[in-house]
Amino acid sequence: MNENARIAVVGATGLVGREVLSALFDQGIASERVSALASERSEALELEYGEDTLEVEKTTPEAFRGVGVALLATPASASRSLAQVAQAAGAWVVDVSPAFRADGNVPLVLPSFNPEVLGAAFKGRIISLPSAVSTALVSVLAPLHKSFGVVRAQVTAMMGVSSAGVGGVSELEKQTAGLLSGREPEPQTFPHRVGFNLVPQVGAFLANSPWTEEEAGWTLEAARLFGARGDTPVIAGTAVQVPTFHGHGLSLHVQLKAAVPVEQARAALKASSALKVLDAPAEKVYPMPMLVTADPTVHVGRLRTFPQAPEWLTLFAAVDNAGRGAALNLVEAGLKLLQRPA
Ligand SMILES: NC(=O)c1ccc[n+]([C@@H]2O[C@H](COP(=O)([O-])OP(=O)(O)OC[C@H]3O[C@@H](n4cnc5c(N)ncnc54)[C@H](OP(=O)(O)O)[C@@H]3O)[C@@H](O)[C@H]2O)c1
Repeated sequence: MNENARIAVVGATGLVGREVLSALFDQGIASERVSALASERSEALELEYGEDTLEVEKTTPEAFRGVGVALLATPASASRSLAQVAQAAGAWVVDVSPAFRADGNVPLVLPSFNPEVLGAAFKGRIISLPSAVSTALVSVLAPLHKSFGVVRAQVTAMMGVSSAGVGGVSELEKQTAGLLSGREPEPQTFPHRVGFNLVPQVGAFLANSPWTEEEAGWTLEAARLFGARGDTPVIAGTAVQVPTFHGHGLSLHVQLKAAVPVEQARAALKASSALKVLDAPAEKVYPMPMLVTADPTVHVGRLRTFPQAPEWLTLFAAVDNAGRGAALNLVEAGLKLLQRPA
């Protein structure tokens, strides 16, 4: 494959798509190589690309002609068909939506965890990426699992409204302004008011199940990623929509195969290039969503155990959901696919 091939960013006007453009620019990709695609609604809109601007094109089959890799940052319903269209046009496809995460025929890749898949043989030309919470979970658990063995992990993910894209961000803006003026808002994107509230539901509930799609996704994606290498830690938890804009916070309880001193666990986390350890509670240093924006690492800290159950490690993590948890995975996987032979 030509390493100078064109790159189509589909969903370029969205929250993740704009981050993808900025990451491609940071990688030194010339604007001439990038197509910004979105729905008909955004046709001819102009988007910033460094000093240049890109004109948004409607996503049609012709728009994929001559494209080496298509980076899909679109809703799952759109990704399902657009991935096939881009693949039929001969492009590699990387999709960040939930559309293919459970599809055993489509490799699930977290570039910092299993990049070897991107150079290996697989059926078709589509790659699926895990969710932002799974990106953080697997990044934190991988070094612990490798060094000590993780039996299970329980997580509470506190998810900022940007998890629901530009619509989520504008809903919290409007709700907050309305509530401060004494008006009770009508929820649209979220099932309840999220302004000055916590909603223990992110996405829809699975049919006949007490678990949401978001929560079930963590268990399934961890099983696919760790499972390919042997035993899989059991991961389960609760997704909570919180009234912050950007970044997710994760409270984690991790059961290790045996008791491990906190210093050893901290050293294992520090050795991972995917992580930044912020763990000096006496100096008020710990992960927070406000610190993680535009940071390519997942932040982790507040490490502790308690004597009654010393094999359980408690910690807190934060991830830039649209950046590290989506756009950077798209760009890293996409650029690697372009290095494959045609
Ligand atoms: N936000 C996050 O933190 C995050 C993290 C991980 C994964 N994801 C996944 O990333 C995807 C994008 O999320 P987002 O937060 O960026 O959403 P968003 O802000 O709502 O953006 C959606 C984008 O998709 C485009 N689009 C919608 N339907 C389309 C169609 N039929 N053809 C072409 N383009 C279409 C929209 O174009 P218009 O502007 O023209 O409507 C827009 O550019 C979703 O699948 C989401 O699950 C998001």
